[in-house]
Amino acid sequence: MKTKHLVFLAAILLIGSSCDKEYTPASLDKIRLAWNDDPATTMTIGWDQLAGEEPIVYYGTKDRGRNWKKYTLLQSPTRVFLHQEMNTHFCELSNLEPDQAYYFVIKDSEGVSERYWFRTAPDKPKAFTCIIGGDTKPSGEALKAGRFTTQMIPRLRPLFIVFNGDFTNNGKTPEHWAQWLTDWFELSRTSDGRLFPIVPVHGNHEYGEVGILNKIFNAPYQFDDPINLYYSLSLGGDFLHLTLLNSEVKPPLKEYSEQADWLKMNLERTKNFTFKLAAFHKPFRPHTPGKKENLDLFRNWAYMFYEYGLDIGADADSHMSKITFPVVPDSIYGIEGFVRDDLNGTMYIGEGSWGASPRTANDNKPWTLRSGSFNQMKWLQFFPDSESGEAHIEIRTIITSTRDTANQAVSHVEGVGFLTEDDVFVLPESINIFSTEPYGSVIKYPYKKGR
Ligand SMILES: [Fe+2]
Repeated sequence: MKTKHLVFLAAILLIGSSCDKEYTPASLDKIRLAWNDDPATTMTIGWDQLAGEEPIVYYGTKDRGRNWKKYTLLQSPTRVFLHQEMNTHFCELSNLEPDQAYYFVIKDSEGVSERYWFRTAPDKPKAFTCIIGGDTKPSGEALKAGRFTTQMIPRLRPLFIVFNGDFTNNGKTPEHWAQWLTDWFELSRTSDGRLFPIVPVHGNHEYGEVGILNKIFNAPYQFDDPINLYYSLSLGGDFLHLTLLNSEVKPPLKEYSEQADWLKMNLERTKNFTFKLAAFHKPFRPHTPGKKENLDLFRNWAYMFYEYGLDIGADADSHMSKITFPVVPDSIYGIEGFVRDDLNGTMYIGEGSWGASPRTANDNKPWTLRSGSFNQMKWLQFFPDSESGEAHIEIRTIITSTRDTANQAVSHVEGVGFLTEDDVFVLPESINIFSTEPYGSVIKYPYKKGR
């Protein structure tokens, strides 16, 4: 009896060790996902290949763990290059099924990665959530605060994240990008291996290498020149159109016209979408003093936003938080160019501080709904028309870090609960949402007139 047990135990150990041997880790890291094309049918997987050769992504709709042979689909990298001291590999997956979970491993000559997974976007109107924020720094309390904010991602399980510019100090320091991508990979994924696609936007701190986001996230550009790094994505059929603009194309007015022409064409093409959201790094009218007014952007874009009924304009750069009432441009009667119009206006949300040290919020306008000084992200829940009500967006400002009396970053994320795949619309336990009377913690769009 005793011998039988020993034989059984030895057999188990043998099986275990042979599995471990089969699945030595692949020699890669900094895995990230990005949406560069149709979010319902494509996904870009990027990573830094450290050693080893011939990496291949094995994937499919069934979870096969690390058993790469059992996945039904495979794809070799579609773009490989050495840059910023990284051996960057992009694998652009296409022909995916909409609104579907996909599981994948990356196998190279050294071994097999852990099993990760992602979701494609729906191709018809369906409720989903996303996170929007921007401005991270590579050192000090700002780095610490940025890590706290990134730790909200696995807790909320959004469909995607719009990162609204200013990733590092100057966009050209290899160790800063290595750190940013490592943090993103380590802190933004869930314990069950889900990764979330990033939708990157060019900020002024990417000045060191204009077009760098194409090298880091495979982000698309226009007119065959990475200097024109702006693009758009549609989600849920004609439910949401996202335009990712570039506030940093230089010189301002003259060259902006090319982007403005592209924007007009893009908005014309998608004017019948239920919701239209544009993200761009610099706000027209910063809500903190000392930040320059961006009148060239206002002139180029604000009237077009109004003409085509843009619903949400998301910005960053100032390192604080703001939400405005719906506003329309009015250069004669407007204050700082805008008047409140709850029925026809665009609601502007932002202004950065994913990690960057919060600036004072003391430059409100008559059309400002609320501003605040802390590290934050915007959490948006999109709902299509249904029997229970008309299509709307719920916007929440999540406070992720504040400073104590010694100016140390304090986490507001650590004790926050984790949502499950079953329901990503409820509030996780202990989440800190910016809330003030009479508006409460959730701002709805379309905005109810007269509140
Ligand atoms: Fe900035």
